[in-house]
Amino acid sequence: MGDKTMLNYAILRENAVKMNTRKFRNRSVLFFLVIFIFTVQCGAGHKGATGTHGMVVTSYDLATEVGVKILKSGGNAVDAAVATGFALAVVFPTAGNLGGGGFMVIRLPDGSTGSIDFREKAPFRAHRDMYLDENGHIIEEKSLKGYLASGVPGTVAGLNMALEKYGTMALEEVMAPAIEYAKNGFRVSAEMSRDLKRLREEFAEYPASARSFLKPDGSCYEKGEIIRQPDLARTLEMISEEGPDAFYHGEIAEMIAADMARNGGLISKNDLAEYQAVERPCVHGTYRGYDISCMGLPSSGGIALIQMLNVLEGFPLREKGFCTADYVHLLVETMRRVYADRAAYLGDSDYVGVPTAQLLDKRYADHIREGIDPGRATPSSDISPGLDQFNEGDHTTHYSIVDKNRMTVAVTTTLNTGFGSKVVIDGAGFLMNNEMNDFTLKPGYPNTFGLVMYDANAIEPGKRMLSSMSPTIVTKDGEVVLTLGAMGGPLIITSVLQTLLNVIDFDMSAGEAVAAPRIHHQWLPDRIDYEPGALTEETKATLGSMGHRLHKRGKAAEVHAIRNDIDENVLSGGADPRWEGTAAGY
Ligand code: DON
Repeated sequence: MGDKTMLNYAILRENAVKMNTRKFRNRSVLFFLVIFIFTVQCGAGHKGATGTHGMVVTSYDLATEVGVKILKSGGNAVDAAVATGFALAVVFPTAGNLGGGGFMVIRLPDGSTGSIDFREKAPFRAHRDMYLDENGHIIEEKSLKGYLASGVPGTVAGLNMALEKYGTMALEEVMAPAIEYAKNGFRVSAEMSRDLKRLREEFAEYPASARSFLKPDGSCYEKGEIIRQPDLARTLEMISEEGPDAFYHGEIAEMIAADMARNGGLISKNDLAEYQAVERPCVHGTYRGYDISCMGLPSSGGIALIQMLNVLEGFPLREKGFCTADYVHLLVETMRRVYADRAAYLGDSDYVGVPTAQLLDKRYADHIREGIDPGRATPSSDISPGLDQFNEGDHTTHYSIVDKNRMTVAVTTTLNTGFGSKVVIDGAGFLMNNEMNDFTLKPGYPNTFGLVMYDANAIEPGKRMLSSMSPTIVTKDGEVVLTLGAMGGPLIITSVLQTLLNVIDFDMSAGEAVAAPRIHHQWLPDRIDYEPGALTEETKATLGSMGHRLHKRGKAAEVHAIRNDIDENVLSGGADPRWEGTAAGY
């Protein structure tokens, strides 16, 4: 983020504080002025687009173009989302995938909502202690890299389910752009070239991965060079012609199972044949008169987001001012308590009992709020789950799409960390996930994102690992006002939260809300992670005196959002300027 942008956040913050001292209660002329100055001056730092008919925001311009093309040719938001999802599997292989999973939240023009869970599952031969050595120590590498790191992939089943239930176009039609990019190639972006260079040694360990992502002489693709993926093109063609059966029962299933068997992996033909995506009701909440629809278990995203909003609704955040010490303190104290609950209670509800209704109860939020000391940090070691009384280069990808009838789709999909297990299935040309690291590897010990979890998320055959992915749709008086989601492991939930607060409490545009610097707290480790520009020296000193530990980090998460201005009937898309994503509308 540029200096200019930081300066503007400083102005916004300062003015918010001034507003507070003068006890401005309602929207004031001054605040609009601040927003105006902020918008004009920060414009260059935001990646926004506007349109009335439709809007697509994704992590990669080629995928954004695919989505817009489908909308323009008469497809609805789900058609565009499925086409975009398959395109991302080709042009954004760090996170777009066939060998991973994700979640889709959908709102139909009649106002009904639903979600599709295509999260990976533990293979039937997986077991609770599979990542521990004989002394009970975690061998984390096994859950992150190579054949044992993968869950049974869900993406092909999930995208197909969405298309069959809510789309209007044929699978062949929506997959055509992805096949084209795999067969005839596309230009490598700066970010992709950097990633491939960084991971060169790891890809070189697996012959099929080297064939896919390194040149024949073993060297790396430079920015602007064309990369072709012929094996992936054939795999996509099979899916496009035969449907998901090709992947779960047919030739692709054979290739996955054979490669796994040759290399000590667990995923069998039976695991693939038994895999099913599941349509589930959304988790719902309200915040200051807005309705929130988001993803339920096995993602923790929806429950945690609504819990946080329930607590924060009782605080006058706008009066506190954007990113002031008081504001950050209230957010952080809320976050740490909700993450403690996440650790204790949340897991795949098909396998474990989860007290969802109690967690989402506003009276429980009142109880949490009452426990927050307004002037003092509560050490995480003093917080127990309430009901009884970073990694640069990691990747996931979120995309948001709204069409002309305001059908709205929010999708987050991932291989877990960048390029997943680094294993490309021999002959099939796609990467497998390393999602097994999202399970509790050992109760009370952190995973690669520092998340400490317990028995609710222990590995069991066929169980889905807990996720933080949070595709979310916000409505008011029956109209969609905001569609968003993020990548960033545990930072997903707190980044979605802050973007939502930026829009609802601080009236920022989609571009501004996404670009604004963020903070994060996840209970353990007990520290506030903050982005450069988020906190002034004075704010840091105040937070320190309140007992907070501070940790400066690089860019936190990637959020893609669409705001719908109902009065003007204008959609504005905000792609996160921290990364290469784009927004496009028409
Ligand atoms: O499902 C989850 O919560 C993680 N597998 C997401 C990983 C992620 O966002 C990686 N990006 N930093």
